[in-house]
Amino acid sequence: MIALDGPSGTGKSTVARRLATALGAGYLDTGAMYRTVTLAVLRAEVDPGDAAAVGQVAEDVDLRISTDPVDQDVRLGDESVSAEIRGQAVTMAVSAVSAVPKVREVLRLRQWRIIEDVCAVQGGIVVEGRDIGTAIAPDAPLKVFLTASADARALRRANQDAAEGRRSTLEATRADVERRDGLDSSRAASPLQPADDAVWLDSTDLDIEGVLGRILDLVDERG
Ligand code: C5P
Repeated sequence: MIALDGPSGTGKSTVARRLATALGAGYLDTGAMYRTVTLAVLRAEVDPGDAAAVGQVAEDVDLRISTDPVDQDVRLGDESVSAEIRGQAVTMAVSAVSAVPKVREVLRLRQWRIIEDVCAVQGGIVVEGRDIGTAIAPDAPLKVFLTASADARALRRANQDAAEGRRSTLEATRADVERRDGLDSSRAASPLQPADDAVWLDSTDLDIEGVLGRILDLVDERG
């Protein structure tokens, strides 16, 4: 199992999917799980600041996530919400929802179950998020903390938004990336934090191939 943590815009998701594909492993995007709970909160017209109500939505949510790195899909019940969870409404509210301890508890249990099931069937999984190396899998044999400069992260997010048809400006994207990272790093429950034994990888001057190559080298070194 490989734990891949870091702030937004580091290329984490692309690297994690490519890595899982190269290793024949499963893939879990925990950010998509927090985003889907956030969408359910917004649809239920619950105030993201109302922790009790938000926690209840998390307990009730019918969230289905694929662990195939090539064919990613997230569903709320039968409805595919993969595109909607990347939209502005969810992105604005997700850090508040993710800071609710009950939400983290519910998703932690689901993540543990998925990791166990996928490892039993496929022998391995790449899990990406903010607290994988610290809270979800502190015993993971390889933990990578992916970083990049704020400028590089804002530019990557803006390019990704443009490629997927979402309208944004570089300034607005940069402000959002910084706002979210600030909230994610400062929350009390499982903040964005590198594990003590994580390998730091700065992707500012590396492309996806470069990052992937470095992680595959680490996998080889650790047998
Ligand atoms: O990775 P992504 O940008 O999709 O994550 C969206 C949000 O989900 C993050 O900004 C963070 O608030 C939350 N998150 C989290 N813990 C994780 C993964 C994501 O709190 N393990």
